[in-house]
Amino acid sequence: MTRLIIDTDPGIDDAFAIALACASPEVELIGVTTVFGNVGLAHTTRNALRLLALYGREDVPVAAGADRPLVHPHAHRSRHVHGEDGLSGLSGSLPERRTGVAGTDAVSLMVRLLDESPEPVTIAPIGPLTNIALLLAAHPSVQSKIERLVIMGGGLSGGNMTAAAEFNIWSDPEAARRVLVEESVPTTLVPMDMTMQCSVDGAWLDQLAASGPRAAALVGLTATYRTHYRSALGRDGLVIHDAVAVAEAIRPGLLHTTAMPVEVDCGQGPARGMTIGDRRAVEVRMQDTPREIDVALTADLDEVRQFLQTRLST
Ligand code: BDR
Ligand code: CA
Repeated sequence: MTRLIIDTDPGIDDAFAIALACASPEVELIGVTTVFGNVGLAHTTRNALRLLALYGREDVPVAAGADRPLVHPHAHRSRHVHGEDGLSGLSGSLPERRTGVAGTDAVSLMVRLLDESPEPVTIAPIGPLTNIALLLAAHPSVQSKIERLVIMGGGLSGGNMTAAAEFNIWSDPEAARRVLVEESVPTTLVPMDMTMQCSVDGAWLDQLAASGPRAAALVGLTATYRTHYRSALGRDGLVIHDAVAVAEAIRPGLLHTTAMPVEVDCGQGPARGMTIGDRRAVEVRMQDTPREIDVALTADLDEVRQFLQTRLST
């Protein structure tokens, strides 16, 4: 069974991702750590606790991490996409968890969970990569206990935050570069190129909402996000980016990957936060090209949507 830690900034698609992990028997969710991102850290942490409460998971430790990027602070959060509280203003409609946050920070919790784990652990970072960069930089000894990072982030053909950059990577490019370029932990990147293909429509959401009370609560959180995606996609539907990445963590191979080096633009110009995938043949690359990571670019899209629908129907 895959042991899984989710590092997250809930966020509506993060909510679907956490729900998916709770509802999947192939994984043991051993911890959830939070980071700033879609909204501020206090909201993302409260949302993570409440989403776990919805699934009856009092047992999963939750710890809060970074409240801002490593190097260049900025005020941008995604309230216009996810709502003022990160869950369309409806966080208060979820049950309160009896168990609060662990008495430690996100990085310390990850270190403890990795150290104590009898076998390597998969980590699914689905927000800015600040906590993960800090973990890998400060605790290199835990790397051998990480089976794989399955990261939602980036876009090889454009972004959603800017024309060049996807939100998670744009939010902390220096952290992203540390993780994607400079580290050596096996990494699968699930960029927008993949997640956008897995968009779901109104009928898919309606079917899910009718399947059970938890699914209804989850779909009920999507109002602000659905409005945003109606404009972005030009039709009723939405993109549950983070759930697509966590689906790959739960069922390795669900997404089809291509190995390539990926650079991150850390400049202050219009390309800041851009992920640049090098799809050239190995033979023609420069010698100091960064390491290769696995980038998910294709999948059986019906299989992905069916997997999400089946698992979330509770
Ligand atoms: C990513 O950015 C956030 O808004 C979502 O939660 C997801 O992690 C998509 O670009
Ligand atoms: Ca997220």
